[in-house]
Amino acid sequence: MTLQFSLGSAAPETVDTPCVVVGVYENGVLTSAAARVDTAAHGAIKRQVESGDINGKAGTTTLLYAPEGVTAKRVLVVGLGTQKTLDGARYQRVNSEAVRALGRLPIDSAVSYLSEVDVPGHDAIWRVRTAALAADHAAYRYTATFKPRDKSPQPELGALTLAAGHEAQIGLDQAVAMAEGVRFARELANLPPNICNPAYIADQASRFADQHDKVSCKVLDHEVMGELGFGSLLAVGRGSANKPKLVVLEYKGGAEGDKPYAFVGKGITFDTGGISLKPGPGMEEMKFDMGGAAGVLGSFVATVKLGLPVNLVCVVPAVENMPDGDSYRPGDVLTSLSGLTIEVLNTDAEGRLILCDALTYTAQTFQPKVLIDAATLTGACVIALGKHASGVMSKHDDLAAELIAAGEHALDRAWRLPLWDEYQVQLESGFADVANIGGKNAGAITAGCFLARFTEGQRWAHLDIAGTAWDEGRKGLATGRPVSLLVQWLIDRSV
Ligand code: BES
Ligand code: MN
Ligand code: ZN
Repeated sequence: MTLQFSLGSAAPETVDTPCVVVGVYENGVLTSAAARVDTAAHGAIKRQVESGDINGKAGTTTLLYAPEGVTAKRVLVVGLGTQKTLDGARYQRVNSEAVRALGRLPIDSAVSYLSEVDVPGHDAIWRVRTAALAADHAAYRYTATFKPRDKSPQPELGALTLAAGHEAQIGLDQAVAMAEGVRFARELANLPPNICNPAYIADQASRFADQHDKVSCKVLDHEVMGELGFGSLLAVGRGSANKPKLVVLEYKGGAEGDKPYAFVGKGITFDTGGISLKPGPGMEEMKFDMGGAAGVLGSFVATVKLGLPVNLVCVVPAVENMPDGDSYRPGDVLTSLSGLTIEVLNTDAEGRLILCDALTYTAQTFQPKVLIDAATLTGACVIALGKHASGVMSKHDDLAAELIAAGEHALDRAWRLPLWDEYQVQLESGFADVANIGGKNAGAITAGCFLARFTEGQRWAHLDIAGTAWDEGRKGLATGRPVSLLVQWLIDRSV
């Protein structure tokens, strides 16, 4: 069940709902909604603040059941932390903690006043959008591969009303479209690799195209790619029985003849490393190695749902990297679609080998205004930036700045790494134009430098989402990043 959102402007003490949500700051300061509820409820919140049962620490939740004097059946009091230091990231976190707490209650709807809380530097549109996106993220459940259970007798949270005026409607509309894109990306990335293989991704894309105006889909199979000269991409796929596909989605929401924006996403549906086999522990996480593909497809879905007035193409090289008697091997020299030859020194550096051909194809076919790729490309990026920021690499300072600003605004943050030519020497080969690995130093950057050789003359940026595309651990789920960043960036381009 997906959450339905609406805006409301009823008073918190008289709104008729199974649960009303209000915020309290850390040193006992009540938000105005909390103060109104408290007054109507004869001091029920303040008493708990005085007793210390409510401390206002960020993300804590306390439930008051049927307090006398208020219409709502329950009041959920959410800690906001200290008022002076409340920023966007904490605002997002308290909104998701609130929805997590609501999800544990036997209720089907709630009304939240957290959307009224002042966040310096942000307006009501942003607050509504961020609250709704955080709520949708927290409410997401992966259920695709569990045995279907009898419907639980407990009602489930299905509707959330956010307190805001009509002027915030645009924020809600954006959130609903972005949330749909984020969910699309998460669901695709969470699916197991025996279901989500290259053909499955191609089917999902063409199904989406069939269902939407202004959207068309083309899928190149390995035979067509062979004729066209995708020598690098096809080498990676040779070890797998699941043959590679190149998925090309086009959305014509802008003026006719206007050059499109282009997103390219790494779609390795499973990365064993190939002949340069990865160690066993944790290998199952490599089903998420199509996180870039999921991210650009989700961004495409959100863009179409929003009806943004832009032309957009989305290209996904979907390939499985397996060891086999017919696998490509270390030492092989490949001829890429661009004509550049590549010496394979490690078959586990496969992402750049499928992306280079996909980037060449996209640039040649569409001459895009801007070309952006997203890829779970390097473990080195996770070492450099951890799980909180995606890596941005671009030779264009303004494009890098645009992407970083969009990520900051959408709380899907990214941080820049340099792409200086000095790093290019690490990719020199004695047997081909370029080697596919650059040694132990600056692994995220040398991967970016490899791609840079195939995007010369393009206004291009690379997002390394290896650390941000999924939450680690046994129950770690796909995050849907960088959908919000990319959609925000496109929104910024279309005003
Ligand atoms: N998909 C991996 C990168 C990765 C590793 C993403 C861990 C998320 C978590 C990529 O294909 C890969 O294996 N990269 C190698 C490159 C190396 C051989 C130069 C890596 O990062 O170890
Ligand atoms: Mn790999
Ligand atoms: Zn990979």
